[in-house]
Amino acid sequence: MFAIDKIRADFPVLNRKVHGKPLVYFDNAATSQTPKVVIDAIVDYYSNYNANIHRGVHTLSQEATDKYEEARIKIQKHFNAKHSYEIILTAGTTNSINIVASGFSTLLNEGDEILVSALEHHANIVPWQMLCEKTGAILKVIPMQQDGSLQMEVFHSLLNEKTKLVFCNHISNALGTINPIEEIIAAAHSFGAYVLIDGAQACPHIKPDLQELNVDFYVASAHKMCGPTGVGMLYGKEELLQMLPPYQGGGEMIETVTFEKTTYAGLPHKFEAGTPNICGGIAFGVALDYMNSIGFDAIATRENELLTYGTAQLEKIEGLKIYGTSKKTSVISFNIDGVHPYDIGAILDKLGIAVRTGQHCTQPIMDYYEIPGTVRASFAFYNTKEEIDVFVNAVKKAQMMLC
Ligand code: ALA
Repeated sequence: MFAIDKIRADFPVLNRKVHGKPLVYFDNAATSQTPKVVIDAIVDYYSNYNANIHRGVHTLSQEATDKYEEARIKIQKHFNAKHSYEIILTAGTTNSINIVASGFSTLLNEGDEILVSALEHHANIVPWQMLCEKTGAILKVIPMQQDGSLQMEVFHSLLNEKTKLVFCNHISNALGTINPIEEIIAAAHSFGAYVLIDGAQACPHIKPDLQELNVDFYVASAHKMCGPTGVGMLYGKEELLQMLPPYQGGGEMIETVTFEKTTYAGLPHKFEAGTPNICGGIAFGVALDYMNSIGFDAIATRENELLTYGTAQLEKIEGLKIYGTSKKTSVISFNIDGVHPYDIGAILDKLGIAVRTGQHCTQPIMDYYEIPGTVRASFAFYNTKEEIDVFVNAVKKAQMMLC
């Protein structure tokens, strides 16, 4: 039995009203809401042991360092990485991808090939285009098809001995498509290519086992998983993180510094120049504890029920088209004939309902469907069928007003 009332009580924001109506928060793919236990951890840090880490012998610094490194170990265990030093704490998914892209700028040659899926967020396209500009490598696209899945037979035909890197999201932020990353990783490895998986949209819903996946790099953000913004992770296999050069120079990432030569610190510090988001890292660990206390099996079951129910209700609306119908999770992206998605979003907001409208940082997907954007409702485990009813009625009302 899913203790929905108790779970909803964990999220203070779910009690608020927007334009006089109870908030219905269906923009979870953009950022999830924050449970009180995470808010309390943030307040506790700034109230009781705010200090810089790895730098002081004083008690506060030691306490902050211990908690920060405990968080790294929690993240390692959650994702089943082999070593805690394979978890680099970053500013988020975008930052993590840029660290890897920048690192490969010294390792690729002209004519090398990079494969990227057509379902990517701009954050998993632009850094690789920049890498290609710097190195002369060639970016090739794994195309999508109408149901929002990838054309896997084309993917296999694109792989060859020149393929050095393959990038794909685990779950599409715009459509919710669950990509066959096991197949992608195994096929890329058979050609000696490295694979980076963008897990930003997957990690709120499922618990990846990184060793079992045998993935080379995996990136995610805390704020999609009940944690704070401005913190995320880059997982990389030890030998690959050793191979990549540092991203930024500064304090913390060095071993020795003289004006003649600097030597770099070992992992994970080589990639963690400057004072990190200490509080955010600690809160990231608390957020994972919270989600694990609910359990990812229970989360998946709950969210699938919401997705099935919401899809069935929306499909009854004449003139409404859902984009992305293959195997997916927790996202319904749709349009209504003759109506701009932004106008629907604006009316829903007036009715207390938060959705995202537009391109969702995935212009190539919108171009494929030849649409300006979609309305995207994205569910989390703390949402309810009653909220879906409110939302569906509001969509019908918007359609009546706009058509
Ligand atoms: N990537 C986030 C989204 O899909 C911001 O909305």
